[in-house]
Amino acid sequence: MDIYRAIKTRKSVRSFLDRDIEEDKLQRILEAVRLAPSAKNLQEWRFVVVRDRQKREQLAMAAHNQAFVGEAPVVIACCAETDKHVMRCGLECYPIDVAIAIDHLTLAAVSEGLGTCWIGSFESDRVKELLGIPEDIVVVELLPLGYPQDPAIKEKSRLKLAEIVHYERW
Ligand SMILES: Cc1cc2nc3c(=O)[nH]c(=O)nc-3n(C[C@H](O)[C@H](O)[C@H](O)COP(=O)(O)O)c2cc1C
Repeated sequence: MDIYRAIKTRKSVRSFLDRDIEEDKLQRILEAVRLAPSAKNLQEWRFVVVRDRQKREQLAMAAHNQAFVGEAPVVIACCAETDKHVMRCGLECYPIDVAIAIDHLTLAAVSEGLGTCWIGSFESDRVKELLGIPEDIVVVELLPLGYPQDPAIKEKSRLKLAEIVHYERW
């Protein structure tokens, strides 16, 4: 799929078909994640892929009862194993790097006919306990992944380009 089409087609999917994801599709998506860029090529991202129904339902509860999270056949806990390196611009790089990898994931998912939804609303300690994630690992996002109930392309609510882009100076 053309990259611009994938970007336009991607939307937050909060309702999934009760249909498993083929292993080869999942592996292609994870490979797209692996190829993401990162500061100093640190590649601090780590992922826990969850297919087990009971665990998914518990993750949904840990995500402040967002039930649709557990309805997706796969939930991916997107984490960082990080020394919290600060770039010379003053920003920590790990949340940026994990976010880039997740964006690869969401766009690769679209090109495989799958849907995702970024989940930043969750109780980190509960997620860690459920998945046996060590203390020093940061859970950055949860990502349900599955076949969308409604594959229709949704109109995006976004600021206009003129509101977000300056040329030559602010
Ligand atoms: C960092 C981040 C965290 C988010 N957390 C949640 C969440 O916890 N629950 C949810 O339903 N949507 C969540 N979203 C989805 C946003 O609401 C959604 O991306 C935004 O409204 C734009 O809609 P679209 O994804 O359909 O284009 C999150 C998105 C991002 C990027």
